[in-house]
Amino acid sequence: MKNLTSKQLRQLWFEFFKSKGHAVIGSASLIPENDPTVLFTTAGMHPLVPYLMGEKHPAGKRLANVQKCVRTGDIDDVGDASHCTFFEMLGNWSLGDYFKDEMIRYSYEFLTDNKYLGIDPASLAVSVFAGDKDAPRDEQSAAVWRECGIPANRIFYLPKEHNWWGPAGVTGPCGPDTEMFIDRGRPCGPDCSPACGCGNYLEIWNDVFMQYNKTREGAYEPLAQKNVDTGMGLERTISILQGKKSVYETDVFAPVLAAIEDACGKKYGENDDTTRSMRIIADHIRTAVFMIGDERGIVCSNVDQGYILRRILRRAARYAKRLEIASGALAAVAAAVVKEYGDVYPEIAAAAGHIYGEIASEEERFQKTLANGLREFDKLCGYLVGGVISGKAAFRLYDTFGFPLEMTKELAAERGLTVNENAFNEAFGEHQKKSQAGAEQRFKGGLADNTEATARLHTATHLMHRALKTVLNDENVNQKGSNITAERLRFDFTFGRSLTDKEIAEVERLVNKAIAADVEITCREMTLDEAKAESAVGLFESKYGQKVKVYTMGEFSKEICGGPHAPRTGVLGKFKIVKEQSSSAGVRRIKAILE
Ligand code: ALA
Repeated sequence: MKNLTSKQLRQLWFEFFKSKGHAVIGSASLIPENDPTVLFTTAGMHPLVPYLMGEKHPAGKRLANVQKCVRTGDIDDVGDASHCTFFEMLGNWSLGDYFKDEMIRYSYEFLTDNKYLGIDPASLAVSVFAGDKDAPRDEQSAAVWRECGIPANRIFYLPKEHNWWGPAGVTGPCGPDTEMFIDRGRPCGPDCSPACGCGNYLEIWNDVFMQYNKTREGAYEPLAQKNVDTGMGLERTISILQGKKSVYETDVFAPVLAAIEDACGKKYGENDDTTRSMRIIADHIRTAVFMIGDERGIVCSNVDQGYILRRILRRAARYAKRLEIASGALAAVAAAVVKEYGDVYPEIAAAAGHIYGEIASEEERFQKTLANGLREFDKLCGYLVGGVISGKAAFRLYDTFGFPLEMTKELAAERGLTVNENAFNEAFGEHQKKSQAGAEQRFKGGLADNTEATARLHTATHLMHRALKTVLNDENVNQKGSNITAERLRFDFTFGRSLTDKEIAEVERLVNKAIAADVEITCREMTLDEAKAESAVGLFESKYGQKVKVYTMGEFSKEICGGPHAPRTGVLGKFKIVKEQSSSAGVRRIKAILE
């Protein structure tokens, strides 16, 4: 097995897939566009869903990339050896081109060939789908693995729970997968398998054969095209290749941890508590840097992505305090992240000053909240009967002032008091249930909500974008984000003040005029330069490599976009703006519907 750095691994990935006829595309934004079902990009396939569903990708049918991803579901586990909220996923795709046979041979070659990872085939194990009522047992993949030289006793057949990759939302493209593991040669017993979680099998790669679309009713319909979607977690893979016990001990985290050591004068590894706190700070600041410095960067707020960012930064600040790091020092940790990643992700290097500023402001706001919370705490102690802080009071400190239970307990102990932890946990559980129900409702609808309703709203978004530029007489009115459900569109754009009623009415009039003209919507592929020359609106980044798709709506709009759109403007119905408000500094938000 070769000991590779993260930079070498990214490079080998691109080299290998280029040699197999793949176009290397850039990472998409961390903030999903036109997708109300998830807050962040959670896997490499996520931005590619329209193409897995059959849209034509301008770069072709064979793609490879390294995608920035965020998953915050396991945030409380961050601090152990393996969990991260941000990670990079190496991926390759066949959009209706090659399928199982070719992909498994590619995987075997990349993993074992000395030009690439050089893993000893004797230490490889794989799993394939065992089959159930929805899809057959994957004998085809097993046969290809055997032909590659993996003996039958290292091919495990596992059920859906292990060998099926479903969409992040409720609906969308999915299918059986085959996973590859390093077998460490220390099975926990005769029934040890990649499913048992004892740590003998380290997952290294996942090849998904996306050939079904899960419908709202829960059925699995065959997709028109059979796709391949693969994902290899960069951090986990380099930790294996570098022989490290933890992703935090690899080259990507080394400079970040060094900056934290500098800030607190303690050593990573000196004891479990320090190690855990340092990992949490390193992880959370890395995630915050990528969120703020994204092409569609976000700032702290109390809703949606901005709220997640706020929680992550405050959690980092709490652990910084625990390590006695002076307030304001987190920007220096962020600088180490920017230095490590700036050449791979130039957007974060370009936004460096803004990133440090946002982190420092949030730290400051957090200090203020803490000070207010401490006053509240002192008041509370004055009223206290029987030396016990109630669960309700502890929860209020948590919910309103951001006091973690451990901090309330510490403060209580200093005053000879205790906290009713059971009651706190009950209040906390209630709160989580409520917010989970809210989130589920909000994200209901499915990842690939490719319905006609969303396509129409997507088309309306283009028309409105153009109308805003015209009415506000400002070509710098630019899209900052878009989020479409079957019911409404939501569009964020750069503009410094609220719109007047007259302006809103004029934007509506222009969009409805374009709808009444009932023009055809056409799509052409061209290079970015050609699109620029035609004055198409859009983010001029070479995200999709050479070619882009440009959607034209008569004289009304020309925009770079992945689609899908309505066939003609006439089918849209009546366009109406229902809300215009501030989204963040210098950014406005419009919600609109089609009646
Ligand atoms: N989409 C697959 C994953 O994330 C490859 O594991």
